[in-house]
Amino acid sequence: MSTTPEPVTVIGLGNLGRALAETFLHNGHPTTVWNRSAAKAETLIAGGATAAATAAEAIAASELVLVALLDPTAAQEVLVGAADAVRGRALVNLTSGGPQDARELAGWAAEHAAQYLHGAVYAVPQTIGTTESSVNYSGSAAVHQRWQTQLGLLGKGTFLGTDAGLASGYDVAILAGMYGMLGGFLHATAMAKVAGVSATELTPMLVSWLADSFPALSAFAKEIDSGDYTTEESSLAMNQAGLDTIIQASQSQGVPAATLTPLKKLIDEQVAAGHGAASLARVVESLRSAA
Ligand SMILES: NC(=O)c1ccc[n+]([C@@H]2O[C@H](COP(=O)([O-])OP(=O)(O)OC[C@H]3O[C@@H](n4cnc5c(N)ncnc54)[C@H](OP(=O)(O)O)[C@@H]3O)[C@@H](O)[C@H]2O)c1
Repeated sequence: MSTTPEPVTVIGLGNLGRALAETFLHNGHPTTVWNRSAAKAETLIAGGATAAATAAEAIAASELVLVALLDPTAAQEVLVGAADAVRGRALVNLTSGGPQDARELAGWAAEHAAQYLHGAVYAVPQTIGTTESSVNYSGSAAVHQRWQTQLGLLGKGTFLGTDAGLASGYDVAILAGMYGMLGGFLHATAMAKVAGVSATELTPMLVSWLADSFPALSAFAKEIDSGDYTTEESSLAMNQAGLDTIIQASQSQGVPAATLTPLKKLIDEQVAAGHGAASLARVVESLRSAA
């Protein structure tokens, strides 16, 4: 894919930042890089990148500036430290964080005459620049529009809206779902081991069952959005008994039920409140009331 070789700056040369810079270099963009530990720029310099001595110098070098730092604190520290250089810049921050972090930085950017687009990356560094990579963006529609060819080099891009916090809002929710699933997976392998089944033997069957379960999530989502938890399929009371059986089995095998008991507590709460006949999705009401 050929693009106009406009200058691009990458701030942060950890695993993600390096992959971003390499992608721009491979596509012919004059690429300026900066990293706190200068040594990480060396292979990129050998590949044609220009190293800036400071973050401000790197930001001054290009209108499009991508930021990939460890966490929101690091991103804020580096950008605020280079405040004099950001005027007129399109800041595309791919650093993971919460929605409020992105909104605060977008507000700060606006105060300094910079435009801000936040990106949540769904890729590992090795897949950046391939069809296996995707990035959800939110914030400045103008930045997304103006730089979509360059951003498109990184992977499939989706613009979610002008609230800078939206991409992170999706991201942290999706990752919460992922960690819940990973907790369940790890628990399953511990229980299987006690039963003499290796993780490798278990996993294909577990994956098949999880995949078959995915359509239920869409049905639950409709219940959650409508607030109507009427069901004739799988009630909270049934799930309470079912999960209790699994917890007992786990404990009697000597496997602590640490990943399962928080969900059981929420189910118990809903059943105790008189909702035993409702759908399992009603558990979300316990989480909402805690907000
Ligand atoms: N890697 C992935 O697969 C992936 C995927 C999606 C999203 N992300 C997100 O992308 C961001 C970067 O990830 P990564 O994998 O590149 O992380 P990483 O390899 O750990 O790199 C972290 C970078 O942040 C810099 N840094 C940390 N604290 C700093 C500070 N106070 N001031 C200046 N620089 C600081 C580090 O500089 P030094 O080299 O000087 O330590 C390094 O360049 C994270 O928010 C991550 O969640 C990563």
